[in-house]
Amino acid sequence: MRGLSTKQLAQFEKDGYLVLRRLVSQRDVSMLVDRVASLVAAFDPKSSDSVFDSERQRSKGMTFDPHEDRYFLESGDCTRFFWEADAFDEGTGELTRAKELCLNKIGHALHYEDPVVRNIVARNFRPVAMSLFKDPRPLQSMYIFKQPEIGGAVTPHQDSTFLYTEPESCIGSWLALHPARKNNGCLYVVPGSHKNESIGLSQRYLRSTKPGEYRTYFEPAEVAPLPTEPSVALEADPGDVVLLHGRVVHFSAANTSDVPRHSFTVHTIEGGAHYPRDNWLQNRDGSPFAPFPTEADSPLPADYVAPL
Ligand code: FE2
Repeated sequence: MRGLSTKQLAQFEKDGYLVLRRLVSQRDVSMLVDRVASLVAAFDPKSSDSVFDSERQRSKGMTFDPHEDRYFLESGDCTRFFWEADAFDEGTGELTRAKELCLNKIGHALHYEDPVVRNIVARNFRPVAMSLFKDPRPLQSMYIFKQPEIGGAVTPHQDSTFLYTEPESCIGSWLALHPARKNNGCLYVVPGSHKNESIGLSQRYLRSTKPGEYRTYFEPAEVAPLPTEPSVALEADPGDVVLLHGRVVHFSAANTSDVPRHSFTVHTIEGGAHYPRDNWLQNRDGSPFAPFPTEADSPLPADYVAPL
């Protein structure tokens, strides 16, 4: 079992992030990329008209409104596909390129639903989480495409805004699946910002708890921009994992290059912490989030053939 050392835990506590170089093998990286490619190949593009764009998510008066997007709000315990905002022709409304080059992300329960992803998560993410939590609950996973040319920026944010618990406990694990460089939208982090009392937790992202009302909103609605300096560019290679404290400010630029920058994230909370009903992410039946998949309960399918 590959957990974290005392020194690594101290570094994470001090900086609010930790880079774990080559934590995941190149074989597992290939398995994940290949598996998701097969899911995308089987995906009917007509089954989703949902765009994910963090800049529009925060802007007022937008014509597109993910806050009222039922497809998004009911994705907490299943596997759903979200488009890049710039994937559509403004005139015709049609996709401008092959579907696999138009997706923004897949979320938010691949780590339970897909047996291959689940197996990879059990072997690679669970041991690290066991070092950080008493009872880790991985409540969200995302396969993020950051497509060549149209991969959108992610605005500065704190993950506890979206995955809030009392007491706060969210930690993100971000796995690089391609080389992530400044020119294709690598992560940036503001070291120590998780301890900046003048920021605290800037906002929460909430959902209406009225039955049948699919609406989300930020509270408070308006806040001062989060500080983005001094920031560190976290350039990464396939297999590198970055841990992110729920309050540490992080962001990424758009991918304006011609190369992809896929990544996979798992967000985890403490099982004993209170998880409010008005957090945006919920299981559709209202049940609590399950423990990590283990190697014992996550075998690869008998007919699975790993990529070369
Ligand atoms: Fe984040």
